Amino acid sequence: MAEALGAAAQGGRLWRYSSRCGGGGSGLFWRGDRRLAAGNKVEGRVIRSQGFRRIVAADESGVWKEVDLEDHDLRPVSTVGRSTNIAWHECPVGRTDREKLLGQKGCVIWITGLSGSGKSTLACALSRSLFSRGRLSYVLDGDNVRHGLNKDLSFKPEDRAENIRRIGEVAKFFADAGIICIASLISPYRKDRNACRDLLPQDSFIEVFLDIPLEVCEARDVKGLYKLARAGKIKGFTGIDDPYERPLNCEILIEQEEGICPTPDAMADQVVLFLDRKGFLRV
Ligand code: ADX
Repeated sequence: MAEALGAAAQGGRLWRYSSRCGGGGSGLFWRGDRRLAAGNKVEGRVIRSQGFRRIVAADESGVWKEVDLEDHDLRPVSTVGRSTNIAWHECPVGRTDREKLLGQKGCVIWITGLSGSGKSTLACALSRSLFSRGRLSYVLDGDNVRHGLNKDLSFKPEDRAENIRRIGEVAKFFADAGIICIASLISPYRKDRNACRDLLPQDSFIEVFLDIPLEVCEARDVKGLYKLARAGKIKGFTGIDDPYERPLNCEILIEQEEGICPTPDAMADQVVLFLDRKGFLRV
């Protein structure tokens, strides 16, 4: 079992090995510019736990040997997007440590639906319900995030995509912190939601579709925006002149029953039950 292996690079991508990864992994080990091992399965093992200087790795001929690595050798830099020469720094306190501390598992509850469908109401009811059970959550509400971090974004498709991408990345940090992150935003396009799903470890992105018909949302019109959109005073309003793409395989579907919308507490209970069954409320 490796105690810590630092980092290795493969195809320009950074691969990291931490105390929890075990002794194996696929990747290439680098020393300065020199590739030490090419392989399908490269095993790295810490020989000296202090300083992490020596590992066992296969060289290019496939021969296993002990290799000395200087500290800086363990930190190859890479390019991510427009960021050049950056390296990932692993912290000795990891996700599972934090989850143990909190007694829960981090995840993202992604609530999607039309404006006025009750996303924020559900988010708050859910956060309250979790709090009363001694579980820590945090709500990232689309409207709220647009007051600060995303105030530079409009509602044109590319800006909505960026809004969703940024909230997805922030939600990922919260989940990694061990927190149950509740993101509630229209997120009308399937592609953007799926991109956020792909950011998270499998099963820890839980998509909740609040499937309330447009007529109901429009009749509520809590902010008076549907009226303005119908009058042509707001352009590109979701459900009116901009599309809402329904999820195809969400984890939780919340809908009306015989024309009646579930209460906030009933909606929250549906989500809490799911989290409990899937083991997110304990470690
Ligand atoms: S999203 O589409 O980018 O996910 P988000 O949830 O952040 O939207 O913000 C939605 C809120 O912005 C709505 O609740 C509404 O108050 C407001 N809003 C302003 N313009 C629009 C628009 N064109 N379409 C939808 N919501 C809008």
